[in-house]
This record gives sequence, C-alpha cells and structure tokens, in this order.
Amino acid sequence: MSELKTISFVLDGEITEIDFNKSGYSPTTTLLQYLRSLPDHKGVKEGCGEGDCGACTVVMGELRQDKIEYRAYDSCLIFLPSVHGKQVITAENLGNSGNMHPVQQAMYDFDGSQCGFCTPGFVMSIFALYKQEYEVDKEEINDALTGNLCRCTGYKPILDAAEFACKNKEDDHFCECEAGIVKMLKSVRRDKTISIITDRQKYYIPFSKAEALRLRKDFPQAVLLTGSTDVALRVTKKHELIPEIIDLSQVNEYNYTKTENNIISFGSNFSMEDVRRQSKETLLALYEMLGVFGSRQIRNRASLGGNIGSASPIGDSLPVLMAYDAEVELENHKEKRTVKLRDFITGYRTTICAADELISGVNISLPGKDRIVKSYKISKRKDLDISTVSACFSLKLNDGKVEDIAIFYGGMAAWTKRASKTEAALKGKEWSRVNVEVAMKQLEEDYKPIADARSGEKARNIMAANLLLKFWSESRRSA
Ligand SMILES: Cc1cc2nc3c(=O)[nH]c(=O)nc-3n(C[C@H](O)[C@H](O)[C@H](O)COP(=O)(O)OP(=O)(O)OC[C@H]3O[C@@H](n4cnc5c(N)ncnc54)[C@H](O)[C@@H]3O)c2cc1C
Ligand code: FES
Ligand code: FES
Repeated sequence: MSELKTISFVLDGEITEIDFNKSGYSPTTTLLQYLRSLPDHKGVKEGCGEGDCGACTVVMGELRQDKIEYRAYDSCLIFLPSVHGKQVITAENLGNSGNMHPVQQAMYDFDGSQCGFCTPGFVMSIFALYKQEYEVDKEEINDALTGNLCRCTGYKPILDAAEFACKNKEDDHFCECEAGIVKMLKSVRRDKTISIITDRQKYYIPFSKAEALRLRKDFPQAVLLTGSTDVALRVTKKHELIPEIIDLSQVNEYNYTKTENNIISFGSNFSMEDVRRQSKETLLALYEMLGVFGSRQIRNRASLGGNIGSASPIGDSLPVLMAYDAEVELENHKEKRTVKLRDFITGYRTTICAADELISGVNISLPGKDRIVKSYKISKRKDLDISTVSACFSLKLNDGKVEDIAIFYGGMAAWTKRASKTEAALKGKEWSRVNVEVAMKQLEEDYKPIADARSGEKARNIMAANLLLKFWSESRRSA
C-alpha cells in the first residue's frame, strides 16, 4: 500500500512540509526543538523539558468541522510528526511590540512580565483561553495557568492581565484569517498512513482504526503513543532511541464520548481535559481527580487510553475508574474484547493487553443515586504534581450498614491495588467511626508501600488510613 512520507502543517500562515529524510530532524524531534531551530520562533523557551514549567507553551489550532479549536500544549512533549494537519501558533504569531495582540497588550499594561523568560508561555496559555467560546471566570483562569511557572513577577499581575484580556475580547487577526487556515488544514492529506522511515527509526501515523490495528499487527514491538506525555520523556529525559512508534493521536474513531443505557463511554484518544469537562455532571469523583491532574497543557494532550496503558502505580484515573468498576475495550485487527479495568493491570506497568491489541475505549456505568463515590489525591503541592497516595471509595449503604464497598489506592503498591481485606472488614458492618477505625488497621495487611523521594512507608500507611477516615466523615454528609 502506498503511504505518505512527509508531514504538513500550518506555521506562519503557510503550509510547511517536512521530509524527515532530507530535513535533519528525527521523528522524535520535539516540536519545541523544531521551533527553536527556526530563526523566528525563539520566543518558545525550554525550561524543564518535561511538562512542568510551561515556558514552551504553544497553541495548536485543530479542525473541528469547519472551525478551528485552539488549545495550549507543552511543545517539549510533542513529537514533530504529531503536528501533521494542525496549525502551530507561537507568541511571534500573535503580534509584535509595534502591534500587540490584546493578550500581549494586557500583559504589558498590567506589568505581567519582568525577566520575560516565562512570558511567551503565559501569553500562549492566556491566548488559548481568549479563543474559547465559553465564559472565562477566575477559577477557569487559575486552572488554565497552573501549568505556567514564573519566578519573578508574582502571579497577581499575570492573573489580572488574563482576566482583563478574556473579559474584553474582540475579534483578532486569527478570526479574520480563520477561513483561509481552515481551507489550508482541509487540504492536508489524511487519506493514507504516514510512514516516516529513517536510518534509525520508523514512525507511523494512521488516520483510521483499521490502519491502526493493521500496524499494531504488523509491528507488535512498536511503542504506541497517543498524547506522548509519558512516552516523550523516554526520549527527552532518558535519551532513549525508540526504533518504532505507532502514533495513534490522529485516529478520530478513538476520539469520542457517548452515553447510552446509563453507560458513559470514552474513546481512548479522548483527552483528559475533555474527560474532565464531560464528567462534571455525572462522574464527580473522576471530575475532581482530574481537577488535580497535571496542568491544562498536560490534560489537553494526555489521553485516557495513555493513562490506562501506562499502568502506572500513580496513574490518577486508575483508582477512580476501578472504583466505578469501569470496563476497558481492547481491540486487535480481528476482534474487540471487553475486560474489567480491575483485572486489566497485572503488575508493575504490566497489563493483559496483547502484543497485537490496543486500548480503544472505556465504558463506565453511571453509579446509582444510592452510591457514594469519592476520590482523593495527596501530593506535595495541589497542582501539577504526581500523587504520593491517591484513593477512590465507592460505598453502598443499606439501613446504615455497608452493603457494598470498593476501595482502590494508588501509590501504595507497584500497581493500583484493591484493599480487599479492608473491604471485608467493613462489609455488613455498621458504617460507624468505630468500625472504620478497626478497618483502617487492615490497610497494613493490604499494602506494603515503598519508601521513595515522595514519602516513607509509614507515612503512606498513615495517609491511606486517614483518607478512609476522611471518606467516612464526608460520606455522612453525602448520605
Ligand atoms: C508534567 C506532567 C504531569 C503529569 N501529571 C499527571 C497526573 O497528575 N496524574 C497522572 O496520572 N499522570 C500524570 N502524568 C502522566 C501522563 O500525562 C498520563 O499518564 C497521561 O494520561 C498519559 O497519556 P498519553 O496519551 O500522553 O500517553 P502516552 O505517553 O502516549 O502513552 C503512555 C503509555 O500508554 C501506552 N498507550 C498509549 N495509548 C495506548 C492505547 N490506545 N492502547 C494501549 N496502550 C497505549 C503507551 O504505549 C505508553 O506506554 C503527567 C505527565 C507529565 C509530563
Ligand atoms: S520546557 Fe518546561 S514545560 Fe516544556
Ligand atoms: S518574568 Fe521572569 S520568570 Fe516570569
């Protein structure tokens, strides 16, 4: 089958084409490295190179029917081929000192910049917010800027600038050019798989589910990626050469949500930010956990499939989805099977996903009104931090007694593990503080946590026990 060998995207209002065999870039060159190699995009800064500082924030315009949706991303976590078919926007595209964009002007007017290193990143995060159709309030601004760090200005002037800009929106030059950019993006080919084959690497971008599954069968050793927020670190931090990659990020058939018969389903490509927004009314424990998941830039890029696929002991969606008793859909080129997420992870970063399979979606039965489900995350700081201990509890009471309880903790074992003995100690018992305190002791039978840079073993045990007590206390208010 013939395949495309180059990628195309819009930069500076024009289609840019890259042939990896001629350009000197590798398929795992990050978007940040690429932009910084250009003469006119040095405003994109490298701070941490791992998604923690936001200095590299860019906005990408993506086609949604006939419109462009703008989102902020950390360019240090995106491999260059992934930008195929998108519009890449940096601070240089907003305006210059003689003709500033309203967001830049607000940063200037409110003294939102001192040394200026962080400023292009902040401007891009605020610009992404400026381009949203929904109303932007202080909470939304705080959330959108959690992924941007500043060492010298102090955040108040920046937040004030963001608020002013977003509350006084006017049409900008992106509105004027949108129809033309839509036309350009539509002209970019998506009819054939992109195959980038260089001396050292193979990078495939399928655009359909059938092609994704065919590649998975043909290249079972290839590393799958969706948002690449985990995988990119293997390259940027561990300096690994990944010889074969299948990039699933452009398979739209895996980017969906639907609700049928009280079951809410998410495609594996659905971003964590989309899952968060979608779960606000129906899956509150998931919504709250995702409120403290990474930053806006990370959640815009990170996928639900990637969080499950990474099978990390501190993957934050896992205890919540397990407590909701979610099902994972696994597909290969021949068939689809559905397994319980509770049975999906088999050990430290190992799963039952076969070499020819991939995660295609997740199904969650909406909990009945008689269920209390709550999630908790303990980390060194509230935003943009990984869990020291996380937990999710799902409780059903009958006449004040525990009819059913599911307890899952992250950070307490090599994988997200169920507290079976603790559950057994509670089942059938009165849901009282005395009984909960007895059950808290069982947690030490369920878990032998490790000590690491984030916490000692004893502290983890105390945190886990206290989260159960907290749940008991809060559940009495919800009951
Ligand atoms: C700064 C920063 C902050 C973070 N904060 C958090 C946090 O608060 N909580 C948290 O849980 N995580 C966090 N993460 C980790 C990461 O963002 C999440 O695990 C994310 O959900 C991974 O999704 P992705 O699409 O980027 O995965 P990728 O990096 O694309 O893939 C991750 C893994 O899943 C596999 N995979 C991807 N897609 C599929 C598929 N469809 N089928 C099978 N396997 C697949 C890949 O092979 C890889 O092993 C953070 C990461 C960074 C860099
Ligand atoms: S360089 Fe720090 S988030 Fe990308
Ligand atoms: S202005 Fe110096 S880091 Fe923000």
